[in-house]
Amino acid sequence: MTKRTIVKLPGDGIGKTVLEEAIRVLDTAGFEADYIEGDIGWEFWCNEGNPLPDRTIKLIEEHKIGLFGAITSKPKDAAFEELAPELKEKGLVYSSPIVGLRQHFGLDICMRPCHSYKGNPLNFVRRGQGGTIEEPEVDVIIFRQNTEGLYGGVEWSNPPDEVYNALMTHPRFVKNFGNVPREELSVSTRIFTKKATERILRAAFDHAKKYGYKSVTLCEKPNVIRETSGMMYKMAMEIQKADYPDIQLWNTNIDAQMMWLTKNPETYGVIVAGNMFGDIVSDGFAGLIGGLGFACSAQFNPDSGIGVFEPTHGSAPKYADYDVSIVNPIAMIESACMMLDFIDENEIAAKIRKAVAEVIAEGKVRTYDMMKMSGRPDVIEKGAASTQHMTDAIIAKL
Ligand code: NAI
Ligand code: MG
Repeated sequence: MTKRTIVKLPGDGIGKTVLEEAIRVLDTAGFEADYIEGDIGWEFWCNEGNPLPDRTIKLIEEHKIGLFGAITSKPKDAAFEELAPELKEKGLVYSSPIVGLRQHFGLDICMRPCHSYKGNPLNFVRRGQGGTIEEPEVDVIIFRQNTEGLYGGVEWSNPPDEVYNALMTHPRFVKNFGNVPREELSVSTRIFTKKATERILRAAFDHAKKYGYKSVTLCEKPNVIRETSGMMYKMAMEIQKADYPDIQLWNTNIDAQMMWLTKNPETYGVIVAGNMFGDIVSDGFAGLIGGLGFACSAQFNPDSGIGVFEPTHGSAPKYADYDVSIVNPIAMIESACMMLDFIDENEIAAKIRKAVAEVIAEGKVRTYDMMKMSGRPDVIEKGAASTQHMTDAIIAKL
């Protein structure tokens, strides 16, 4: 078998740390690959005016699989401030390299699994009958449309004539905003296409079918956002009826879903949503299984086979320069497992997940977040495991 080449994208801050830990685990588990490093992140914005250089795009195009740590993003003005002096005159505007990757490669399918590990002290618990404490098992996977909707980037402040005039053709706009001075208006669009909507819906149903989930829950707001959410709901009903008669389609509103997920999270299995609501609901469920130290993700384009795998957390700059790193590497390691699944290395993925589960169940090695401490350098003295120590424990189980 030919050896794989994986493009490793460390990015910034703790992204660099956790990525190296995940690679140590992959190596030990017997995944044979060459790693080639792709430049991405803040440093490249500051020095080159582009946080996602073309050479990185080319690497991913060639090798197809990216394993990504995290990046630092800053607001527009701060980004401009930190740009190298010779680049300041060039009219460069910062934009997120992650969103850039998604859009460039059409990584429109985002999967975010949230399943609880036995013995994780951060698992969601609730009071049952007679004051008993229940710890329902959460096993949810969110399919988030990753390229359109509110994150599509089609937006204006003080909109230009053509846009303003177009808006003024809508009676609701005239009624609700017609008297507002144009320079006081900011507009962000929510555009859904049938093609991308169908792809994310089918990805969710296919997953439910393959892994035996009995339902797919569409989590949008079709009663209020009638055009986009409404279209998605209508399409979901058609697709379910035509091709997935054995899987139930449930329809929840995002706001209600955020309430129900802390009442009866065990009821849900596969969830599908547009870009923003998918982002929100996946963070909600991640909170039930341990938070950012455990939240992993895959984003890919099934047609090209290009995929980028990353933890949902960011670069956590305040922890980046600790002499001994304290952050939890599990979200990154789980993301690497999703990469393995994507390239059909399921056995190695299963082996790693089993090792992680054993370490958590044993409860001897826990990072600061698992001990409910606030993150400070002295957490190690107080008994928390360092990032490396947690990785070592997982490796020992392998
Ligand atoms: P963050 O996810 O970097 O950190 C928030 C907090 O979550 C941390 O202070 C820490 O308490 C906790 N945390 C994060 N990762 C953890 C881990 N592995 N183990 C234990 N605890 C962990 O989000 P924040 O502070 O809002 O953003 C920091 C930078 O990261 C910003 O520049 C932001 O734009 C960027 N960001 C990048 C993302 C990405 O690369 N995908 C996603 C989110 C934020
Ligand atoms: Mg998020």
